[in-house]
Amino acid sequence: MSAIINWIIFFGLALLLPTAYAAKIGAPYAPTFMAAIKRAFSHISLGPSDVIVDLGAGDGRVLLEAASRGAKAVGYELSPIMWFIVWSRLHLLPSRSSSAAKSGQPSVPQKRLTVYMRNFYRQKLPVETTVIFAFLMPEHMAKVKSFLSKQHLPNLRYVLIYAFPFPDLKPLEVIHAPKCSRLYVYRPSDFRLNT
Ligand SMILES: C[S@@+](CC[C@H](N)C(=O)[O-])C[C@H]1O[C@@H](n2cnc3c(N)ncnc32)[C@H](O)[C@@H]1O
Repeated sequence: MSAIINWIIFFGLALLLPTAYAAKIGAPYAPTFMAAIKRAFSHISLGPSDVIVDLGAGDGRVLLEAASRGAKAVGYELSPIMWFIVWSRLHLLPSRSSSAAKSGQPSVPQKRLTVYMRNFYRQKLPVETTVIFAFLMPEHMAKVKSFLSKQHLPNLRYVLIYAFPFPDLKPLEVIHAPKCSRLYVYRPSDFRLNT
C-alpha cells in the first residue's frame, strides 16, 4: 500500500514540479483568446508558407489554429500536464479532420503540428521559423527578447506577443480584438536577430 502511495506522490511531483517551474520562469497557463489569435493570423496572412513557433504552447490553441490555416506549427511546453493536453487534442480526441469536414473547416494534419516537452529557453528554434508567438509574464519579456536575439532565424517575418509587450520596444502594430487583451506585432529587425 505504501509503495502505491509513494508512486502516486512521485508521479504527482513529476507532473507538478515542472509545471510550477514553467510558471516561475515564463508564465502559468492562461489561454490567449481565440478572437485575438484569429485576428492576428488574418492580419499577417499566416498560411502554408509559414512556420510558427509558440514559446509555451499551453493547451495548443495557437498551434492548432495555425495548422488549420496550413502553416507548420511547432510548440515548446515545459508542463507535462499542458503538453499532454496538446498531445491528446492532436492524437486522442476525435479527429479534427472529420469534425472539420462536417463544419466545412480545413483539417489539421498531425504532421503539421509538433509539440515538444521542453524549456524553450534552452532550444535552438527551427531555422525555417517565420512567425513567433508568445504569451508570457511581463517580468520575463526582457529575457525573451535576449533569447530571440541569439537565434538564427533568417526567414522570420513577425514576432506576435499577447498581453504583455516587450518593455523597451515599440511595436510595429497593435491588434485589438473585442474583449481580448492587445496583441503586439514586432518586426525581426527589432531584435537584431542573427541572420
Ligand atoms: C500564458 S500560457 C500561454 C499558452 C498559449 N501560448 C496561449 O497563448 O494560449 C504560458 C504557457 O507557457 C508555458 N511555459 C512557461 N515557461 C516556459 C518555458 N520556459 N518553456 C516551455 N514552456 C513554458 C507554461 O507552462 C504555460 O502553459
